Amino acid sequence: MKSVFYEMERWECKKCIDLNKKNTLVMLQEALTDETAHLHENAEIISPFIYSDLNREVLKIFPDLKMIATRSTGFDHIDLEYCSSKGITVCNVPTYGENTVAEHVFGLILSISHNISKAINRTKKGDFSLKSLKGFDLRGKTLGVIGTGNIGRCVIQIAHGFDMKVIAYDVHPDKDIAKGLQFRYVSMDELLSRSDIITIHVPENKHTRNMISDEQLGKMKDGVVLINTARGAIVNISALIRHLASGKVLAAGLDVLPEEPAIREEAELMRSVFHKEYNLETLLSDHILLRMNNVYITPHSAFYTQEALDRIVNTTVDNISSFLNGNPKNVVNQ
Ligand code: NAI
Repeated sequence: MKSVFYEMERWECKKCIDLNKKNTLVMLQEALTDETAHLHENAEIISPFIYSDLNREVLKIFPDLKMIATRSTGFDHIDLEYCSSKGITVCNVPTYGENTVAEHVFGLILSISHNISKAINRTKKGDFSLKSLKGFDLRGKTLGVIGTGNIGRCVIQIAHGFDMKVIAYDVHPDKDIAKGLQFRYVSMDELLSRSDIITIHVPENKHTRNMISDEQLGKMKDGVVLINTARGAIVNISALIRHLASGKVLAAGLDVLPEEPAIREEAELMRSVFHKEYNLETLLSDHILLRMNNVYITPHSAFYTQEALDRIVNTTVDNISSFLNGNPKNVVNQ
């Protein structure tokens, strides 16, 4: 079968060599777009990462497509409905980075609570004053975790190391996990009103898009800290800016932004503005957030450690081999 991998780094290509026996492999650095898709229209398996947009129009370019092996946990960049209607199997990497993302969550929290990045930037300029660097302890604070799946649970474990109190909300609460990890499930409203720090770990889908809107932000404690490493579209970004500006939200730590692909590349931004592909109000909001002093943004790098990347490639190779052997694994569109 012809398998085309997009968004590949050189070392990743070497790790996929085992697939060579049963496959014609093509490794590309570029993301999958309507332009790059036309280069390999006869692909039967494609393996994208999250900056490829597998919408219906792009997928239609591959008439022989049988499998998509996304090298990510999230699959909101793939039109699953279309894939299912065409019998295309979609597999993901369900658990490559639970500890990795959870560690990044605390990196963002500590950047805020101890003003770490601000302090380092100041000392680099020779300024050793403590002015406006006063932070706050995590010990004794209440952490609200929205989504107690793989990442949420790791966050809870780490939070106990800081002696934080943990409450959580999930559509599918798991009492055994709550008992084992010593936290309490509460309603969304209680979580919003009681948490000093709120961290989001739900997937993006039609139920979670805009889940944290003006109304939910209004219900939060004054001076709350909001962390989002899940997906940008889960938080209403214009509402967040208003609540950050008013001081209701003390600070935000964001690894994800809505309209992220356009924000990453200035050229992409110009092209998308011209073609009106992205929501301009959201893009403007992203740019305002990037410039706010109480917002800490990382470039969707929460997953980006060598260990997590190794796990991603190994699972993807296994997903493709299993599919070829007739026993598909980690299928998300059954
Ligand atoms: P998971 O599938 O293990 O857990 C998700 C949890 O959210 C589940 O417990 C589920 O019941 C809950 N949930 C789903 N819909 C909900 C709703 N409407 N309200 C409340 N709870 C809901 O997923 P995992 O591995 O914990 O990852 C979470 C998300 O983190 C992924 O979907 C992905 O978008 C994002 N992610 C971000 C990364 C980054 O680098 N920033 C890396 C990996 C994942």
